[in-house]
Amino acid sequence: MTDGAVDRPRPRRVRPPVHVVDPDAASRRSRDLAEELALRRTVRDFAPDPVPEDLVVNAVAAAATAPSGANRQPWRFVVVTDPELKARIREGAETEERTFYEGDHAEWHEALAGLGTDWRKPMLTAAPVLIAVFEVHAGDAEPKPYYAKESVGIAVGMLLTSLHLSGLATLTHTPSPMRFLGRILDRPASERPFCLVVTGYPRPDALVPDIGRKPLTEVLVWRRPGGRSP
Ligand SMILES: Cc1cc2nc3c(=O)[nH]c(=O)nc-3n(C[C@H](O)[C@H](O)[C@H](O)COP(=O)(O)O)c2cc1C
Repeated sequence: MTDGAVDRPRPRRVRPPVHVVDPDAASRRSRDLAEELALRRTVRDFAPDPVPEDLVVNAVAAAATAPSGANRQPWRFVVVTDPELKARIREGAETEERTFYEGDHAEWHEALAGLGTDWRKPMLTAAPVLIAVFEVHAGDAEPKPYYAKESVGIAVGMLLTSLHLSGLATLTHTPSPMRFLGRILDRPASERPFCLVVTGYPRPDALVPDIGRKPLTEVLVWRRPGGRSP
């Protein structure tokens, strides 16, 4: 021991998987991905067409590769296709959302005005798949997670990316509060609802709000040596 630090045996280490991309391909692939992701939009009008199960399994497999605080992997993805359960989830969400939309939250209402959303959530029964994402906290079978929200947020980003690349549309839905999800889906108390990813194909007449994204010049800040601008 030195300076109070505990001298632990070094954990076994392995080489990372080989992942070499030639520089031209790297540039093309990264640009292609940015362009592809720019086409992702939150959709709220879903067609009833079923979603191939392997697309959902692959998306969850992609999400489950996410980095996580102390490698605790504090996520659970509950895939709901049962119409009866979807109806109960819709009822739970609409009850919470109705209270919220009828409540006194002027600032929130103003922020949502441009999206045209209200307490009605027909997409929860129209879409073929609901993916309820839970944060896993300490419980009988689970150790304490670290940075659970950050870890699950990164995993959901990867889930959405995979679903989008499979040609599926999604709505990230966060009815507030979401405790009803754990009750309906019979999850243990250690699992806290994080969000609901409504998944399916867009209805042919689906419309999305005409909103923009901030330009790169606003969201990207470089600090190069010598203070040069890009
Ligand atoms: C954490 C999170 C929570 C969200 N919650 C809701 C929601 O409860 N209801 C809804 O209609 N949209 C919800 N959205 C979707 C946003 O409104 C949408 O992502 C945003 O308006 C940008 O639109 P875009 O996804 O089409 O780019 C949520 C998005 C995120 C990331």
